[in-house]
Amino acid sequence: MHNPQLNRHGELTHLLSIEGLPQEVITHILDTAASFMEVSQREVKKVPLLRGKSVFNLFFENSTRTRTTFEIAAKRLSADVINLDIGRSSTAKGETLLDTIDNLCAMHANLFVVRHAASGAPYLIAEHLARVGRDDIHVVNAGDGRHAHPTQGLLDMYTIRHYKKDFTQLRVAIVGDILHSRVARSDIHALTTLGVPEVRAIGPQTLLPSHLGRMGVHVFHDMAAGLKDCDVVIMLRLQNERMTGALLPSAGEYFRHYGLTPQKLALAKPDAIVMHPGPMNRGVEIHSAVADGAQAVILPQVTFGIAVRMAVMSIVPGN
Ligand code: CP
Repeated sequence: MHNPQLNRHGELTHLLSIEGLPQEVITHILDTAASFMEVSQREVKKVPLLRGKSVFNLFFENSTRTRTTFEIAAKRLSADVINLDIGRSSTAKGETLLDTIDNLCAMHANLFVVRHAASGAPYLIAEHLARVGRDDIHVVNAGDGRHAHPTQGLLDMYTIRHYKKDFTQLRVAIVGDILHSRVARSDIHALTTLGVPEVRAIGPQTLLPSHLGRMGVHVFHDMAAGLKDCDVVIMLRLQNERMTGALLPSAGEYFRHYGLTPQKLALAKPDAIVMHPGPMNRGVEIHSAVADGAQAVILPQVTFGIAVRMAVMSIVPGN
């Protein structure tokens, strides 16, 4: 099947989704990110790989971590970075997404980083660029609807590899609102591609998609059973902005059953790491004692995100 993010040589020209990415491509990104970790330790935190290139950050949805770390990453690669202020842009006057893209192309854009509430928006842009013969312009998906968040998936894999070394010996639990989570989808595709033998999904029936079994994921509705002997626990936020109708009795009830407390975490392996893509809702999906505890690697995830985004933005324009 044609994968629109790979060229005819199987090289990455856009990053739209982890689904369908070969293991070697994911590993190449993680290895490249590892080489960029050192750049962040330097006094002058810059390499010239994107000098003279223009990176446009197009965030049609709110973001703290992704937007900021993409900007830092692009600047560390010496790119010119333009953050389009969507609220003040002509989108508010009815300009279409693709008309906006055409205008930014006319300003000599080289790479678009796109976050959009509509699943598929980055694909639409990549297909449009191909149609108008602009194979020299690249698209990186920074999160589209509930579909995919590939750089979050990659930084999560970087984090797991950093702490656990070998994917092929792990039991990984993803907990919470998987139904509305683009992070969960990206993580599941990455974990299975990298050879994790047991991926678990834990949550109430109403927040788990029905196709998890087909993705090779083991489903648990009981937190104690699901967390038992896990090496990695990935907590997710309740994505109320993507829910239609009441899927839960209350936040308090949810925390009682699925909130990660020190007592529940004790059921995982003693050296289990706790991850969260952010933003966290303390007291809803995670207790502060866990979020700030010794097993949490939530802030290192953010730091690794800079190197991973540098890796992606240095790889795609070369292909
Ligand atoms: N993890 C993540 O996507 O966070 P932001 O929404 O702050 O970018």
